[in-house]
Amino acid sequence: MSRSDEFVVRRVPAQALHELRRRVLRNNDPDKKVIDDRDEEETAMHYGGYLSNTLVACGSFYPSTSPINQELRTYQLRYLATDLTMQGRGYGRRLLKVAEDDLAGLSVQQLWANGRDTALKFYFETGWLAVEGSEHLSPETQLPHTVIYKVFAAYNR
Ligand SMILES: CC(C)(COP(=O)(O)OP(=O)(O)OC[C@H]1O[C@@H](n2cnc3c(N)ncnc32)[C@H](O)[C@@H]1OP(=O)(O)O)[C@@H](O)C(=O)NCCC(=O)NCCS
Repeated sequence: MSRSDEFVVRRVPAQALHELRRRVLRNNDPDKKVIDDRDEEETAMHYGGYLSNTLVACGSFYPSTSPINQELRTYQLRYLATDLTMQGRGYGRRLLKVAEDDLAGLSVQQLWANGRDTALKFYFETGWLAVEGSEHLSPETQLPHTVIYKVFAAYNR
């Protein structure tokens, strides 16, 4: 594989990710909100996955109170997405791994997310767990979601 084909994950400003969020997560609807109120906060962390400098995957993380294990220092994951033509090639998992390692290195102890039910298997394969009884419809998309979380290894009791 040539160097230009390498998949690289970088921390980026939120603005770099808005278009991909819209395309993958909001059906490319120009009227849908893809900016999170917390996007510009200094503590928010945004990751872009690039192939030859083209953005193909994204995910954003915000400090948050947690629906579970409230004593742990927690970030919320939102807007995890891989370009529609690039899904199933390992990019989502690789981006999430880089982000998780980065956040764990910054003393984050746990992540949580409202996971789309259609993506739950993806999360469960990498150690995320579901909060029992948390199934709900997202107010933003009306799609079925479940609250999921992952405690980083060092804090797993
Ligand atoms: C969910 C998503 C981010 C996963 O990213 P991806 O780049 O497609 O996933 P990967 O290729 O890294 O997949 C890793 C593994 O999870 C599996 N997987 C990926 N998406 C899956 C899904 N929706 N359902 C079941 N398994 C899935 C893959 O088959 C792969 O398993 P394998 O290694 O055994 O083959 C991506 O498919 C996506 O953007 N989906 C639409 C938007 C979405 O649902 N985002 C999550 C919101 S909570």
